[in-house]
Amino acid sequence: MDQLLVALDLDTAEEAARMADRLRGAAGGFKVNVHLFTAEGPSLVRDLVRRGDRVFLDLKFHDIPNTVAGAVRAAARLGVWMLNVHAGGGRVMLQAASAAARQSADENERVPLVIAVTVLTSFDRAALAEIGVTDAPDAQVERLALLAQDAGLDGVVASPLEAARLRERCGPDFLIVTPGIRAAAVEGDDQSRTLTAGAAVRAGANYIVVGRPVLRAADPAAAARAIAESLRQGPART
Ligand code: C5P
Repeated sequence: MDQLLVALDLDTAEEAARMADRLRGAAGGFKVNVHLFTAEGPSLVRDLVRRGDRVFLDLKFHDIPNTVAGAVRAAARLGVWMLNVHAGGGRVMLQAASAAARQSADENERVPLVIAVTVLTSFDRAALAEIGVTDAPDAQVERLALLAQDAGLDGVVASPLEAARLRERCGPDFLIVTPGIRAAAVEGDDQSRTLTAGAAVRAGANYIVVGRPVLRAADPAAAARAIAESLRQGPART
C-alpha cells in the first residue's frame, strides 16, 4: 500500500477531500497536480497533511534557481512529502531545489523528497527535435536522470517502460516514480506506454502513481486495495 500513490486529478478541493477520505488506508499517498492546486490553492494540501496523508506535490517547478528554491521552501512549509521539478531546468536549478529542501530541516520541517521530471511522455522524437533535442527520447530521459542524480535529487518520474533501464543506470538508491499504470491495455486510453502495477515495481519502480483506474472505479477503495495487493506479489523496493 505504501508504494501506491493515487493522483487526485479532480476539479475541486471538496471532491479531492471526499476521494482522499474514501482511500485513506488503501493508498500510500496522494498526488496533487497543477490543475487542482491552481483551482484550490495550498489549503487543500494543508488539509491532507493535517489528516496525516503523504502528499506528492506535482507542480513540476521549472524557473531560475532562486525562484525554484523559494517554491521548494514554500512546499516544505506546507508539509509535503514529495515534490517535483523539471530536470530540463539544468544543474544549478536542480542543486538549488535540493539545497532548499534540505534547508527545511534547519527550520524543523520535514525534508521533502525532490524528484525530477525528465521528458514528458507526451513528447515523441519529432516533438523533441522541434525544440532542438535531436537524441531519441530514451537517451534524453537517461541523460536528464543522471544529471538529476548528480545534482543531488532523490529520484525521477519515469514511464514504467523506462524504469528497468534507469534502475540499472542510476543504482538501487535512486527513487523511480512511475505513472502510466493500467490493469490491462485500455482502448482509446491516452497513456500509450503502460504496464501493470506489479510489472512496474518488478522493473524497479519504488512508487507507482495511479489516477483514473482508481478514481473511475465503482469502488475506488477496492480498486486501490486490489492494486496494492498486486504489488505484494512482486519484490518490493522501498
Ligand atoms: O489517470 P492516470 O492513471 O493516467 O493518471 C496518471 C497521473 O500521472 C496523472 O496525474 C498524470 O498527469 C500523471 N503523469 C503521467 N505521465 C507522466 C507524468 C505524470 O501520466 N509522464
